[in-house]
Amino acid sequence: KLRIGLFGYGCVGQGLHDVLNASSGFRADIVKICVRDREKERRIPMSYFTFDKNDILDNESINLVVELIDDAEEAFNIVSAAVRKGKNVVTANKLMVANHFAELVEMQEKYGVSVLYEASAGASIPIIRNLEEYYDNELLHSVRGILNGTTNYILTRMYSEGLDYNEALNDAKAKGFAESDPRLDVEGYDAKYKICIITGHAYGLIINPQEVFNYGISSISQDDIRYAREKGLKIKLLSYAAKVNENTITSYVLPRFISTDKHLYYVDNEYNGIIAEAAFADKQFFSGKGAGGHPTGSAVLSDISANSFGYRYEYKKWAQGTITNYTRDHKLEIYLRYSDAKDLELFHFDSISEDFKSLDYKYVIGIINLEQLYSLRDRLSGMDIFIAGTGRKIQ
Ligand code: HSE
Repeated sequence: KLRIGLFGYGCVGQGLHDVLNASSGFRADIVKICVRDREKERRIPMSYFTFDKNDILDNESINLVVELIDDAEEAFNIVSAAVRKGKNVVTANKLMVANHFAELVEMQEKYGVSVLYEASAGASIPIIRNLEEYYDNELLHSVRGILNGTTNYILTRMYSEGLDYNEALNDAKAKGFAESDPRLDVEGYDAKYKICIITGHAYGLIINPQEVFNYGISSISQDDIRYAREKGLKIKLLSYAAKVNENTITSYVLPRFISTDKHLYYVDNEYNGIIAEAAFADKQFFSGKGAGGHPTGSAVLSDISANSFGYRYEYKKWAQGTITNYTRDHKLEIYLRYSDAKDLELFHFDSISEDFKSLDYKYVIGIINLEQLYSLRDRLSGMDIFIAGTGRKIQ
């Protein structure tokens, strides 16, 4: 019988509780819930709660730790302590998994326990288990998609209702989609952590997230949306990972124009969508809710259930070790809206194919190396610009 010690009782923790209560076929007891805030009103009796993590970690009758807190470093401390005590773990913490990926893989091996984290990427979409089990021998050309619900929700509402950016963001916060620090969503960090986790399972390569370029939607304007609409396109925040040669992949997060012939065009609101492109299976498309207490709680429950059957990730591609390198030497075609010509100069485009200037709206379309974008990453947020990939293949 599963006896669960739960860390965190926020949006996902409560979502899990609901999902667990509603599932008739599966029995697991939440024995204790460890939370930080002593003052907060809880919707279940206080006897469930503790403020001392050792009440769970030292409790030998608890055989599964479910970690759903906000603070990634504290989450890692809790997960490490649980693993050392031989407890299996389920977590939804993408920042923690992405930043401590190699340690988590090694710890599981060393202590013979299982750490599952399906909810950490794509929330309700079972992408990690699919990559582990279904694509374990498949040659994946690329895995790409919309991995952040908050930004997709904002972009959808701006596009279809003309809503103001801040209004849309506030709505995403109210619905429980956004991170407690929403900069993680709107600046593309959350989407980056998720693609790093996916890359670990799709290619067996563990990449330090700091090496991966991310740019979000916080400086998007109605001009950019109008440009997209006039061309029959939508803008989506895309996470991208792809093979560039035998043993090397590239990866980045960048808004992208999407045309109506693409599945992702129709992935709206808090939904996520992922395309896996494989050598033989060709394109496959996964879609589902990418944020929110119940969809995320459902993925956590699925991990809890998998855990009860002894499931663990085998990291087969990691063990194979075919992909050994990550590169940013990769050319992209981008749209750059700018206002100051000095900013434009910093980009050093390889070539420019379109150059539009009116009094209050200027953009160029051109080819640039990802390495160049990465080298500018700390300056981009201070510029009055917006960048989006066109998605066109570079010959
Ligand atoms: N803030 C995240 C998102 C939550 O919007 O996708 C789910 O990981």
